[in-house]
Order: sequence, then C-alpha cells, then structure tokens
Amino acid sequence: MKVLVTGGLGFIGSHTVVELQLKGFDVVVIDNLSNASTDVLDGIAEITGKRPEFEKIDLRDKASVSEFFKKYPDVEGVIHFAASKAVGESVENPLLYYENNLNTLIYMLQELSAKDNANFIFSSSCTVYGQADKLPITEDAPVKPAESPYGNTKQIGEEIIKDTCKVKKGLNAISLRYFNPIGAHESAAIGELPLGVPQNLVPFITQTAAGLRNELAVFGNDYPTPDGTCVRDYIHVVDLAKAHVVALERLLNEKNESNYEVFNLGTGTGSSVLEVIESFERVSEEKLNYRIAPRREGDVTAAYADTHKANDVLGWKAGSSLDEAMLSAWKWEKKIRNL
Ligand code: UD1
Repeated sequence: MKVLVTGGLGFIGSHTVVELQLKGFDVVVIDNLSNASTDVLDGIAEITGKRPEFEKIDLRDKASVSEFFKKYPDVEGVIHFAASKAVGESVENPLLYYENNLNTLIYMLQELSAKDNANFIFSSSCTVYGQADKLPITEDAPVKPAESPYGNTKQIGEEIIKDTCKVKKGLNAISLRYFNPIGAHESAAIGELPLGVPQNLVPFITQTAAGLRNELAVFGNDYPTPDGTCVRDYIHVVDLAKAHVVALERLLNEKNESNYEVFNLGTGTGSSVLEVIESFERVSEEKLNYRIAPRREGDVTAAYADTHKANDVLGWKAGSSLDEAMLSAWKWEKKIRNL
C-alpha cells in the first residue's frame, strides 16, 4: 500500500518513514530540501534496508502537486509534515509562513478531494491550546488566540481540514497535536538537524555539551511551577512516529468514528527545564554549562497532554522515558559531531 509522506526527510517525517516501512508500507517522500538533505534517505535505508521513493517538489508549486498525483494515482494515504516551524522566523516573515504552511495544505486537499476516497494525517501542535486553563490538556480544551503566525497556521490548518471534511465525505482526516518531540532513532542513523542556532531546548542542550554552544540559557526560573522553570511534555520522536502509523491504519481500516478527528500526542507527564537538564546529565554523564536567564517572550508556563483519547480511542501509548529520549538525542549529537 502506497503512502505519501510530505516533509519526509525532516525530523519527525524521517522517523515516520522508517516506522511505515518497517510495517510494510510502500513510501514515497516529497521534500523541497529547504531544511533537510537527501543523506537522510541513506539513514532510512540503513535502518529499514529500503530507500523510499523520493520526489524533490516544492508544494507551493500547485502544478507540481497535480503532476505528482497523476504520476502516483495509487497513493492511498498522505501524512503531511511539510511546513515551516520556527516561531521567531514566522513573526519576522508571516507571509512566508502563511504561504508555505497553508497554500501547500490547500493544494494537497484539493487533489485529495478530487478522489473518491482519501486518507490524510495532519501535523498539528499543542501550540493551539496556548496556556490551557486546565492541566493535563484534553482535546476539547479551547483553542486560544495564537501567539505567532506559526501557531496560527496550525489553527487555521485544522479549520481548513475540518471545513473540507464536512463537505467531502470521501476525505478522512486526523489532526495530531504534538507536544514536544525530542530524541532520535536508537541506531543514530537519523535524528534532528536544526539549521543554525537551535531554538528548541533539547538540541540546544546536546549542542552545548558537544561544544558548539558555550552555555544554555534557561529561560526563566520564576514561573509558578515546582522549581520555577517551564513545564512541557517531551515525547520521544520514535513514539510519535509510531502514532502516525496507528492513525493512518485507523483510517485505512475505516475504524474512525467521524471523517475528521483530533488526537493529542504526548506522554502525559510534564517535565521542567531543570528536570530535562538533570536527565541529560544523568544519561550522558556530562556536566551541562547553563545559567538562568530572563523569560522568553511567548512561552507558556506549563503544558502536558491528557493522553486518554490517544490511549483508548487511537490505541497508542508513548513507551519511552525522558531518559531514553535524552540518551538517544545525545547519541545522535555525538555521531554527527564525530565525538
Ligand atoms: C516551541 C514552540 C511551539 C512549537 C514547538 C515545536 C515557542 C514559544 N513555541 O515549543 O510553538 O510547536 O516549539 O517544537 O517557540 N528553553 C530554554 N532555553 C532554550 C530553549 C528552550 O530554557 O535555549 C525552554 C523554553 O523556555 C521552554 C522549554 O525549554 O520552557 C521548551 O522550549 P522549546 O523546545 O523551544 O519548545 P516550546 O517552546 O515548548
């Protein structure tokens, strides 16, 4: 069965391609290589013994999207990762984000709507909840005004899919709201490759320990949390990747309860920034150079998932601990820096 993975050479995309291939799916990847390289295909082949088909396409080019579906009429499912994801950059260049994250989604849905039956998985984010009033966060928690154009593209993206599913009954879609994906494949054949200075906590930690950065700035220790630092739900990227396969199978096996569903993907456990640092130091046996710095604008105090719906309805549960995820991230960083 053929599955299209857009953005399939990126961090979450590449790990999902691996899990799909391990389950016997035939994968074709679209990526525009704006934030990834074709070396990732080698990493995927190293783990699975198979190189996925690859098409270098920029999904903003509507004609290319149509051409793709003409060339691959047998695609039965689409997992759509391709999007820009840097919050700060989205504030600087909102139109780039609206074009890249929304036009591409619209072109994809236009193609899928023309089919009698189509199955679509969308990369959404817990960012849609903002600072939730109640923790853990359930899927019916209200969507809060977005803090950034990036966050807004996830909210609008979900609305676009929901509205389309209302009128296109052959289109089945699931939005997956990720909490904080971290880690790498245990083989260290694929992992996260941030461009430039990492904005996210875990790659900043591993790059600091690897000597690429002087010190980690912990953004604020005066939050109303047990140790004063922000709390997040860090989920191992391989667990997250497996959830995509389960979600796709739900649609392919017609187990979905309606043609548009939403699931949170997290572990259900919140960890503070200091706890993440402690975990890193424990598993790596390295001392991390860090200092407390002022708060970062736009950060929420605490966010972690209520995982009941994902566990009970989707039938998926995160299996890895924070320590396992941190160890895999460190193993990957050491490999790419030849340490
Ligand atoms: C961020 C985005 C979120 C996006 C997600 C994708 C922001 C405000 N939010 O989530 O919209 O969906 O990435 O992965 O950018 N931290 C430090 N020092 C650092 C980096 C981070 O202390 O150098 C802290 C942050 O204050 C936060 C935690 O680490 O408390 C996690 O930060 P990060 O990895 O950037 O993720 P989020 O901000 O949760």
